[in-house]
Amino acid sequence: MLKIACFGQKGGVGKSTIARLVAVSFARTGSRVKIVDLHAKQRTCLEWSAIRSSQSVAPVIVADLFEEPARALHQTDLDIVVLDSGPHDAATVLSTARDVDLVIIPTATSRDDLKPQVEFGLELNRQGVDRSRLLYVVNMANGSETCIDEAKAYVRRHGFSVADTTLVHSASYMNAHDVGRCIAETELAGLNEQSDALFREVVDRIDRLAGGELLEDNSKRTTRLVDCNFKVAPGFHRAFKTAAALNRMSMRELLEVSVRSWISENCKDDPRIRMLCPELFPDKSA
Ligand SMILES: Nc1ncnc2c1ncn2[C@@H]1O[C@H](COP(=O)(O)OP(=O)(O)OP(=O)(O)O)[C@@H](O)[C@H]1O
Ligand SMILES: [Mg+2]
Repeated sequence: MLKIACFGQKGGVGKSTIARLVAVSFARTGSRVKIVDLHAKQRTCLEWSAIRSSQSVAPVIVADLFEEPARALHQTDLDIVVLDSGPHDAATVLSTARDVDLVIIPTATSRDDLKPQVEFGLELNRQGVDRSRLLYVVNMANGSETCIDEAKAYVRRHGFSVADTTLVHSASYMNAHDVGRCIAETELAGLNEQSDALFREVVDRIDRLAGGELLEDNSKRTTRLVDCNFKVAPGFHRAFKTAAALNRMSMRELLEVSVRSWISENCKDDPRIRMLCPELFPDKSA
């Protein structure tokens, strides 16, 4: 199971916003996703999920309240868990961050937001979270390009990476949340594209972490292909999915066609396999 956290010590900068984007975007790919809302008082994602269901917005996003994040990280029936914390549960967040694959840290461009969020990243790093597992996102940008560039430079000066995609400040994002949608589901195509671009950066980062490009320990993370226990690297998963879409097939159909063709090509001399699935070996003499 892939674990993605939207954490930070600054409130109101977009943790729940990005958690919802990530959850919806993964759910759209057919992954089994859950948002774990760690903010027992605020319950932003929990309530948003209920609104989404009441508005019949697909795909359905399940959100659960977990006061003990350790339990949330051991659910076996999911592909992706997205954790959304409140700003003040520092101890919980620090201990949980070590066990997740990626921590997304949103920040606005003002020094009031940047400084605590960078300090938060430094603290995570001191606690043993590799810098490659942290991804900053500039959100609520409403200033000039220079202002955005300076914010990103500030994050990078401290040795962290920041997403190329910046989320601007827009009332359409808030309106989308109010009706159970995420920031890739607003009424404005341009905004949705920005959100999709951010999600692609998140996936790229996860792929690179899984491929060991960023991590010394070269962790062998895999993802399940369709709903059988066929584990592949995330990069392969995406290539497979694209091939299925291009051929107008489901991933399961493509998997079946691929396996059939491999067996008929490579096992034609094995009488046991010929006996088990004769339909794969048409008799050429007939
Ligand atoms: N780019 C944006 N433009 C406009 N509004 C935004 C943007 N991003 C988030 N918001 C809105 O700002 C508010 C705070 O965002 P969000 O709830 O995601 O922050 P948070 O970091 O989770 O806050 P908390 O620390 O309280 O949990 C919400 O109303 C959300 O809809
Ligand atoms: Mg929140």
